[in-house]
Parts: sequence; C-alpha cells; structure tokens
Amino acid sequence: MNAFPHHPVLLNEVVQALEPVVLKVMIDGTVGAGGHAQALLESHPEIEHYLGIDQDPQALALAQERLKPWAHKTTFKHGNFRQFDLYLEELGWPRPDGILLDLGVSSMQLDQAERGFSFMREGPLDMRMNPETELNAATIVNTWSEQELGKIFRDYGEEKHWRLAARLIVQAREQRLLETTKDLSNLLWPVLARYSKKSIHPLTLIFQALRICVNQELEVLEQFLAKAMDCLAPKGRLAIISFHSLEDRMVKTQMRLAASDKWETSGLGGGLFRDKKPTVALMTKKPIEPSEEECQLHPRSRSAKLRVVEKLEG
Ligand SMILES: C[S@@+](CC[C@H](N)C(=O)[O-])C[C@H]1O[C@@H](n2cnc3c(N)ncnc32)[C@H](O)[C@@H]1O
Repeated sequence: MNAFPHHPVLLNEVVQALEPVVLKVMIDGTVGAGGHAQALLESHPEIEHYLGIDQDPQALALAQERLKPWAHKTTFKHGNFRQFDLYLEELGWPRPDGILLDLGVSSMQLDQAERGFSFMREGPLDMRMNPETELNAATIVNTWSEQELGKIFRDYGEEKHWRLAARLIVQAREQRLLETTKDLSNLLWPVLARYSKKSIHPLTLIFQALRICVNQELEVLEQFLAKAMDCLAPKGRLAIISFHSLEDRMVKTQMRLAASDKWETSGLGGGLFRDKKPTVALMTKKPIEPSEEECQLHPRSRSAKLRVVEKLEG
C-alpha cells in the first residue's frame, strides 16, 4: 500500500506532457506529498535542481520524506508559489525548464477534520493551507458583512443562492457565532438542499468559495501565471492542473493570450487588435482530463483539467 495518502491526479499525463523536455531545472509549485515529483525525478535523471514549494508545512515534510533518494537534487521551500521567482533568484538557479502546479487542496488536508476544509467532518472553521497566515474561514463567516459574504459565494462559488446563504449566516450569528464546519453545514444544508442538483452536494460551492477566499487562490494564480510563462527557459513547459471552472478559465485565458499574436484591447464597438509576438505555444488546445478508470478509483480526480504550454525560442 502507498504510504502517502494523496493520489497524484493525472500522473501519467503530467509525465507525458513533460517527457520531451530536457529538464535540468524543475519547479513544483504545489509539491504536496511529492507524488508528481517522485514520478518526474524517476523519469528525468537529467534533473539537476528540483524545487518543491508548498504553503503547508505538513505537506512539505511528507514530500521531503518521500523524495529522500533525491536529496542531493531537491530543495524545499515553505511558501507560496506566487513567489517562485524570488525563491529562484535566492537560489541563483538558471531559468526553469519545467513548472508544474497541481492546484487546490490535498486529500491529507481534506481528511484532517481540524483543518476545517470538509463539510463531511466536524472541525473548526479554519481552511488555511498555510497555518501562518491570519485570515481564516471563521473570521469571514462571523465578521464580514452580508454584502461581502454574498459576493464571495457568488464570485468564488458561483452559488445561485448566494444572497440567501449570506442572509442566513448573518441572522444566525446574531444569536451565536458559527465556530465549526458543522455549525455552518447545519445552518445552510436544510435550505440549500431544497434547490441543489443531485450531482453536487449542496454545501460544495459554499465551502469552495470560503476556501478560495481564505487562501486568495485566484489572486495568487493570476500573479503566478503572468510571471511563470515569462520565466521559462526556451522549450520549457508549464503544466497546470486545475479543479474548478474559475481556475481553469483563468489558466485557459492567460495561456491563450500568451500564445496569440494579437493583443486584444477594448475599444468602442468591441475589441481592437494590436500585433504582438507570441511567447508560448499551446500544447493542449483542449484540456486533458482523467480517464474513466482514474475517476472511478479516485473520485476527487473527476473535475481535474490539465493544460500545458511550451515556451518559444527567442
Ligand atoms: C493537490 S495537492 C498537490 C499534490 C502533489 N502534486 C502530489 O503529487 O502529492 C496541492 C498542494 O498545493 C498546496 N498549495 C495550494 N496552493 C498553494 C500556493 N499558492 N502556494 C504553495 N502551495 C500551495 C497545498 O497546500 C497542497 O499541499
């Protein structure tokens, strides 16, 4: 049995996507339990430097343990992938030939009730991937205004009943603060369950929205994307696995923009186009998705989408 509880999603597909690249320097922005890292280190003996970043120190400790056989080539950094360029500069390494992001939470994080990520387990309303950051889900739920809560549920959860969810929370907390995942589930589940589709648990979007907000997931991804495609070495590849449509939309848009020979700027009567030089080529016109078999064995893989670009020369 695998000693590491997290199943690396789209593992073969990630390895294949990076297979043609001579990987001397590799950055893994979400090293997690090191599953993708192990496979890449095994299939690319030419790797000289592998940087594993994670904002969760527990994940980093697991990766370090798993990747011991490659201790001479691996470096670990507790931090946010939005700062990968600073870490590279500190290390004095050349431009990376490969960059990988496998976004979202890990199974370890979901399974630890005390982290507060799951509505299936009772725990404090925390949801911080990095325990050193200040903002947690309890602060948002108990102190942010009804408007602010509604905006989070609408924008980060795409929850249809965002107004109702925000109103219920604000009414409930006047009686008693919401401290645990159970407090929030017990309040919202009976109401949202009436409207929700069978294919998705009624609390999924609310919990997703809070998690995205606590960890600033979209802001961080946006900052990362702009820098990552610039930073790659010629012929280097960037591979990103996303798990919800907001992330995937952002990845798709930024990759397409970098691959396009036109800038689109807004103008009267629609878009205006200006010539520009493409900096990357799209390796995946459509995202790569997990096989039926992987989805059955690991249901969390179901929503995964992998997109890859290659840096152009010159
Ligand atoms: C899906 S898991 C990665 C699993 C990993 N690829 C493996 O094979 O084991 C995502 C990891 O990314 C980390 N993470 C998410 N957002 C991050 C960010 N902005 N900066 C650094 N780490 C992040 C999480 O803490 C989590 O450990």
